[in-house]
Parts: sequence; C-alpha cells; structure tokens
Amino acid sequence: MKTKFSGYILCGIFALATFTCVNAQSKKGISIDEKISSVMKKLTIEEKISLLHANGIFSAGGIKRLGIPEIMTDDGPLGVREDVKEGWGSANLTTDSATFFPNGSALAATWNPELAYRFGHDMGEEAHARGKTVMLAPAFNICRTPLCGRTYEYYSEDPFLNARLAVQSVKGIQSQHVAACVKHYAVNNQEVERGRVSVDVDERALREIYLPAFKASITEGNAWTIMSAYNKLRGVYCSENDYLLDKILKGEWKFKGIVISDWGGTHSTVNAANNGLDLEMGSRPPYSSYYFADKLLDSVKAGKVSMKVIDEKVHRILWVIYHTSLSENQPEGKINTPEHSKTVYDIASESIVLLKNEKHLLPLNTSTIKSIAVIGDNATHTFHLGGFGAGVKARYEVTALAGLQSRLGKTIDIKYARGYSGDYRAYGKNARTEDAKPDSALIQEAVAAAKSSDMAILFVGGNRDYESESRDRKSLVLPFSEQVLVDAVTAVNQNTIVVVVGGAPYDLGEIKKNNSTIVWSWYNGSENGNALADVLIGKINPSGKLPFTFPADLKDSPAHALNAYPGENLKVDYKEGILVGYRWFDTKKIEPLYCFGYGLSYTDYKYSGFFTNKKSYKPSENITASVKIKNTGKFAGKETVQLYISKSASAVERADRELKAFKKVKIAPGETVNVTLNIPVKDLAYYDVKTSKWIVEPGKYKLLAGTSSRDIEQSGTITVN
Ligand code: BGC
Repeated sequence: MKTKFSGYILCGIFALATFTCVNAQSKKGISIDEKISSVMKKLTIEEKISLLHANGIFSAGGIKRLGIPEIMTDDGPLGVREDVKEGWGSANLTTDSATFFPNGSALAATWNPELAYRFGHDMGEEAHARGKTVMLAPAFNICRTPLCGRTYEYYSEDPFLNARLAVQSVKGIQSQHVAACVKHYAVNNQEVERGRVSVDVDERALREIYLPAFKASITEGNAWTIMSAYNKLRGVYCSENDYLLDKILKGEWKFKGIVISDWGGTHSTVNAANNGLDLEMGSRPPYSSYYFADKLLDSVKAGKVSMKVIDEKVHRILWVIYHTSLSENQPEGKINTPEHSKTVYDIASESIVLLKNEKHLLPLNTSTIKSIAVIGDNATHTFHLGGFGAGVKARYEVTALAGLQSRLGKTIDIKYARGYSGDYRAYGKNARTEDAKPDSALIQEAVAAAKSSDMAILFVGGNRDYESESRDRKSLVLPFSEQVLVDAVTAVNQNTIVVVVGGAPYDLGEIKKNNSTIVWSWYNGSENGNALADVLIGKINPSGKLPFTFPADLKDSPAHALNAYPGENLKVDYKEGILVGYRWFDTKKIEPLYCFGYGLSYTDYKYSGFFTNKKSYKPSENITASVKIKNTGKFAGKETVQLYISKSASAVERADRELKAFKKVKIAPGETVNVTLNIPVKDLAYYDVKTSKWIVEPGKYKLLAGTSSRDIEQSGTITVN
C-alpha cells in the first residue's frame, strides 16, 4: 500500500532526479516557460492526462521517466496534517508530527498581517520539510452565518480584514517554495448540503463581499493554486464554473496557477475540463476512473476536449512544479522549531479577546490569591485533532490547565474539576449536544471546588469535534449543558472568570448578563495554555478583537432574519446582498451581543487629533488619515485602530459603515502614538452591476476611527471630486 510517506520519499527522489536531469540539459538563465515547453514536447498524451488527476489521497501526477515529481498536497489550515494511507487511516509514522497553529478566526482576531505572514512562513517551512508541494491553506470563506461548521477555519465576516490576512498568509507559505491553495472558491459559506447546494448571490455582493480576499490573494499574494468549492454558484458547480474560473479568475485576475478541485468535488469530464478546472482530486481509488483520467483521454480522442485545453492545464501544473519542488535555491525546511512555537505563542497571545472585566478580576492578583478552582472540560481538552481535514498531529499542545499550573502551580493551590463532558461522540451521532443533560455528579464536584477556592476559572465553549467540516451547528447555544455549570459555579463563587473557547460565535447572553468577567479564547495551537495563562496573569495584555459579530439572537443575523439559510430545494438565496455581518447590524440598527472589532484591554486608550492630509481627493489619490492614541493606563498594550467609511446620499444601497483600513500599534503606559492609515480612494468604490465596473462616487464620505465597529472615537469628512 502506498503511504504518504513513501510518496514523499519518492517525490524527493524524483525531484532530485529531475533537478539533475533538467539542470544537466538546461543552461543557466533558461526561463521557466522555456523549461516547460521543453518538457511538454517530450510528454505523450497519456502522460499529460496522468498529470491532471489524483493518484493517491493527497498526491497527483508525476512522470518518472522525465523526473517530473508528483504534486504532494496536504491540509491545512491549522498546520501540516499527519500523513495518511488509503482510506484516511493514519500512516502511523513517527516523522509527521507538526506544529499546531491557531485556527483561522484566532489569526483574524489578532488583526495583525505580520503574524499572518509568520503563520504562513512557518507552516510553509514545515510543509517543505515534509516534502509537500501544495498546502491546502489558507481558507477564508466569509462568515455569512455564525452556524457554519468551518467558521473556525475561516477568518472573518469582513472582506477587507480577510484580504489583508489572506495575502500575507499566502506570501508566507510561498516564501518556502510551497504553493498556497486558497480555498474554497467560492461562496462555500455553509456546510449543510455543501456538495449539492446552489448559491444565488447578486453580482454586487459577490464582488464586494465574497470575492475580494480571493482576488487579493491572486493579484497581490500571487497564490499559485486555488481550490474550487463543493457547491454550485447560480446553478453551476464551482468546479466547472466558466464564470468563476475562466472569466474572473483566469481572465480578470490573470491567474497562472492550478485550479484544484475540492476532494471529490468534480462532477463531469468535458464540462469541467472546458470550464477551467485543472486538477481533479479525491480520496477514493480507483484513480483511473476519475473524470480527469481515462474519461478525459477518451474525450480528447472524441474531440470534445481539445489538446489546446489539455496543454494549457499541463503548462499550469508544470509552472507550479517549477515554482515549488523543482525551483532553484530551495529553502531548508524545518519542523517543530522553537521559532515556530514562538509564532504560535505570539498569534495565540494576540488573539485572545477580553469581553468583560467589570470587577477587575483580571489580570489575576497573584500575590493575594491562594487557591483557584479550574473547572471545565475545555481546561484539559486538546484541539489539534478533529473537524475532518484540518486536524494536525501536534508534536505537543499545552492545555489551559497545564499553562496555569506552570505559571501558578508553585504558589497557588490549583484544584481541577471537569464540570461537564465535552465528548461529542458520546452524545450520539445525531444528538443535539445543546440539549445534553447536565452531569450532576460533575457539577457537584465543580461546585465543591469553587466553594473551597478563592476564585474559579471556568473553561467552557466548543471543541474540534463539535465545530466541524461537513456539518453546521444547529444553534448558538453553548453545548454540553455548559450554561448549567456556569450558573452553578457562579452562584457559589462570585470571583468566577468565564473563559469561552471556540472558533465561531456562541450565545453568551446569559453569561454577559450574570458574570463579571469573560475572556474569549480559540483553538489556539500548540502554545494554547501558555498564551492563555499569560493573558490571565497579565504578562500579556489582551489585544484580540472579534473578527465577526456575536448576535444577541441568531434570528438577528442577516441570513437567519431573512430566512435565507440553509435554503430550500438545494437552493440558497443570499437575500441580504451586501449586508453581511456588521454591515447588516449597523445598517438595520440591531444591537448585537458583541460587535465586530470588539475587544477590551487591561489599559485604556484615548483617541484624539484625527485629521486627513487633505479635505478633497481625486479618485486616483490616497487618503492619509492620522489619529493620536494615548495609553492612559498602567499596562503596556497593543491597540488596533479601525477605520471605517460611511457614505450617505449614495446612488446605491450602502452599508452604514465599511472597514477600509486598520493598524495595530504597541503603546507604552503614558505614551501617545501617532497612527497613520492609508485608504486609496479607489477602495471607496462600489461595484456597479449595470456597467460591471467599480465606481467611486463623488461627494462626501465620513471617516470613522474607532476601537471597534461601534465604538467610534474620532471622525472626519472628506470629499471626492
Ligand atoms: C475539504 C478541503 C480539504 C480536503 C482534503 C475536503 O473535504 O473541503 O478543505 O482540503 O477535503 O482534506
């Protein structure tokens, strides 16, 4: 049986062989295009076709006689997954453990593109060391509904934040000569019926909300591969969608790399081949029965797919190979280094969001606290595995309890009580864990621990079995009857801190009402517990900001308010149009539980002195806005200034405000920093469906600078002529 590892060794040998063979034949300075043409002349039609489909769960192509290596792909996006054998079973290697990176929404909550680059760079290094050509990451579909099972893999509800992080993640991965595969293109915003559902979205929303991060990752990030989504757009599967693949991606954005199907997401030979798909992947043998295997050869012979089309695909495949496994000046590749752990730690510590700190229980006063009850399954749960594709066999993962013990265990008596069982599977395949009966024995034990301690820290929320690919959550209710536990513990110890761990919004209404102290954390990678403990003890001042709105009620959320989820008769109509996420809440004046961009700190920031470099601009110019921020508290901290624009009196419907720039800055206590933000005026455009053009409307625009989408501290007005 062919394991991923044997594939990887073979790939290495092929790569070496080809390198020698290609380099022996070619003179220095030969361009990639010349190399490709020379190889293409030697390929038979059968060999060309063999490059266009999977030959293993994660591998494709490879022509031994010419030394062309296989394309070795791997998930993504939380780290380089373990190697598997046919049937998805573990290859049981000892060489494929990896760094577990924080999940997508955690990265987004840092609002820090430099961290996105380091995330990509380090994951790329690990992928390279393990012989991978393509990392199936980053993933950044828009969070249209908070219920989507993959919200934790994705970044945000906002296209601008999405795009800034996507570009840097791609650049980071590809700096290691490993192709990024941005996914899932496009409008894969729910898991319910993802393989069959057709999305109907108006063109303006498609262009303004769902495509910008894909566009930026191609035109700015130069992503070498992209994954077509499982679903249909306007009745046509994304893997054979001429509009998405040929017109927009390869035409408008001039994408030169490979369109890879999602696994098993190809549905035809002729249509897919003629409408832009380049490589068919899937996980079920026999691979010769794939649409892009024998059937494609037959279709070429029958004249239904031209040789020109095949050659173009082969050219793309070789182009990616020459940028990756056959590239010159190959980097070294590294796995599980201290630097990678540091990246994880930095992302995790900047991602944690302080939601409420009314009694100033945080940071912990470690000189007076003698005992802490650490309660909840999530204090000891690990998050590297689960959720289908995105699992990582972590070399290590520090749990929240282990983090607290290492920071405080010597001076403070820490008692642990599980409180609830987070074993999703134990509740049965179709069970609603929201309705799971509370475990009274576990609760009693937790209450006893809380009663006899100075303070309680509760760890609740989701986990990687509960939030998962291939299904959406049924509601926002905290699973595993956690609310009962929170209430019972809070009743006996007023010094209770609630830490909610998750990758997507949950209903925290009761907790917000009844609890004084709430921290939001994520599936935060190998260094999870260390970063969390350091935030709780104040070594790290929290600076995370929510990358999506937490609705007070699911029904307030646009797709749910309009009864436009999960669709009917396999059709879902994105009735909310451009009003996704905070755009909906702000425009419709609906109070969310926590708004987009929200997050507190242990210090306070005072904004002042907002000005723009000019009062009026031409469409070709850049707006430079400046604002002063003073750290008025005692802790050093990092603040993310968010700059929104608002256009009244527009020819078209506009969201009340839209994020157009942001910057994260470090500020010492007492220090004032000047923050400058740039907005190209062309970014104020809306997409005009009549002319298919981006239009910058003349007139007045308000600029709103704030610490969240709803806490606007300073503002100004500019005019576009
Ligand atoms: C997922 C992809 C993933 C692929 C390979 C699919 O089910 O949708 O995101 O990369 O599997 O694991």
